Amino acid sequence: MKYDPLTRILHLCVALGVSLQMITSLVMIYPKPGRLPNQWYEVHEGLGIGLLGIVSVHWLWALGRSLARGEAMMLFPWFSKARRADLGRDVGETARQALRGRLPAGDGPRPLPAAVQGAGLLLALGMAATGTALAIGMAPDGGLSPALRAVKEVHEAMAPVMWTYLIVHPLLGILHQFAGHGTLNKMFTLR
Ligand code: HEM
Repeated sequence: MKYDPLTRILHLCVALGVSLQMITSLVMIYPKPGRLPNQWYEVHEGLGIGLLGIVSVHWLWALGRSLARGEAMMLFPWFSKARRADLGRDVGETARQALRGRLPAGDGPRPLPAAVQGAGLLLALGMAATGTALAIGMAPDGGLSPALRAVKEVHEAMAPVMWTYLIVHPLLGILHQFAGHGTLNKMFTLR
């Protein structure tokens, strides 16, 4: 399946932006009463707010794309019984292929990878939204209300899941590329 140019540009922005966010999270010092932030925190905060816009546009574009084609949204199959059944069948087929040491291929988008990619995009939206809420609601000295402290817990709890996604999703893309499915070409050539 070919991706349209806007999907490829949005995906590139999300992939680079989220990777940068995860790296800056390792070196930033965030403010709290009695402690000043470092410059990496400013980068993390600004980029996070920008990513909320980009990831939201990515979701809106994916929705518009499926409405224009008269198809259900592959990235979010959870509210449709038929889509969930398709997903179950694809999980079974993927397991059968994996037991034979093969990666499943096909011309059209497949339900399992699409659902996992959608979960990644949802995770990126959740992290960007909670991060933006923190940036807006935080007191000038870094103090947080009890509600915002809960938002910070949620933001931090999502980080290990994002690290896992950020390792597994590109790795699968690379393995599919080596298996001859042209996966990286389809997503990263801007022609
Ligand atoms: C957290 C960051 C990332 C998120 C949220 C994400 C999300 C997605 C989504 C939603 C799609 C499907 C696009 C659509 O149908 O609209 C996708 C596809 C793809 N992504 Fe990512 N991605 C991320 C990072 C990366 C990185 C770093 C790579 C580097 C190799 C990568 C490689 C690919 C490839 C090759 C595809 C096409 C897969 C296929 O055709 O089955 N992604 N990604």
